[in-house]
Amino acid sequence: MNIVITGASRGIGYHTALELAKDPANRVIALSRNTAALDVLRSNAPHGNIYIFPADLATSTVADLEAILAPCEEVDVLINNAGVLMNKPFAMTDMGMWQRTFEANLFGTVKMVQAAIPLMQKSAVAHIVNIGSMGGVQGTSKFPGLAAYSASKAAIANLTECLAEELKPLNIKVNCLALGAVNTEMLNEAFPGYQAPVGAEEMARMVAHFCLHNHRFMNGKIVPVSTSTP
Ligand SMILES: NC(=O)c1ccc[n+]([C@@H]2O[C@H](COP(=O)([O-])OP(=O)(O)OC[C@H]3O[C@@H](n4cnc5c(N)ncnc54)[C@H](OP(=O)(O)O)[C@@H]3O)[C@@H](O)[C@H]2O)c1
Repeated sequence: MNIVITGASRGIGYHTALELAKDPANRVIALSRNTAALDVLRSNAPHGNIYIFPADLATSTVADLEAILAPCEEVDVLINNAGVLMNKPFAMTDMGMWQRTFEANLFGTVKMVQAAIPLMQKSAVAHIVNIGSMGGVQGTSKFPGLAAYSASKAAIANLTECLAEELKPLNIKVNCLALGAVNTEMLNEAFPGYQAPVGAEEMARMVAHFCLHNHRFMNGKIVPVSTSTP
């Protein structure tokens, strides 16, 4: 399978890329901004099957992303995992911060999907998985300081439902994993000292399995991945 994953330089994306690369039949195309970290990822690929591409999703155009994907004859799985979290009281946020959040979390995903559609419609098992957040799900617990982040993830959830409907004729399935807290650099930077009940490697195994198999069972679903209620 040809699998494209964004935000693969660290955290959940890094471990998901490695998990998917355990199968020598998979080719993992990994994007993020940090070239040095991507080099480490590539060097840890068990079968030399991770291909890295430095790209800033906030500033890349759809044409830039199409050029990265062009060598693939087809794309089977696209995992829109890249994201940023800025923890700031709403009253102190400025439009630049909202812009940076939505550029990375929402518009980056929009551009990746647009670039990948022509290659995904050739696949018999096409699956787009958007990595959302419990904070972007209606009726869940909300936390001060996360308005921009949570709003961007709510948009990702809604985009998932819309794309699932629109891409049905192309036989491309689209689902969203709304993750709860995971121990990663992102979480540690935003909430120093907070310990989540699950680590990045463990969550990556779940994400990888979902991406490979669950297109058969669901489409347009926002799947909460959390042990907390609500
Ligand atoms: N950790 C949690 O508790 C948690 C909970 C719910 C949802 N999530 C979601 O899960 C996903 C992964 O989170 P994580 O905790 O693993 O975060 P992380 O450790 O901060 O990793 C985020 C990844 O996104 C990439 N990225 C950020 N901005 C980018 C941009 N403009 N262009 C390209 N790549 C960009 C980063 O790479 P570069 O810096 O190299 O570009 C990095 O590889 C995110 O979408 C996050 O919102 C996480």
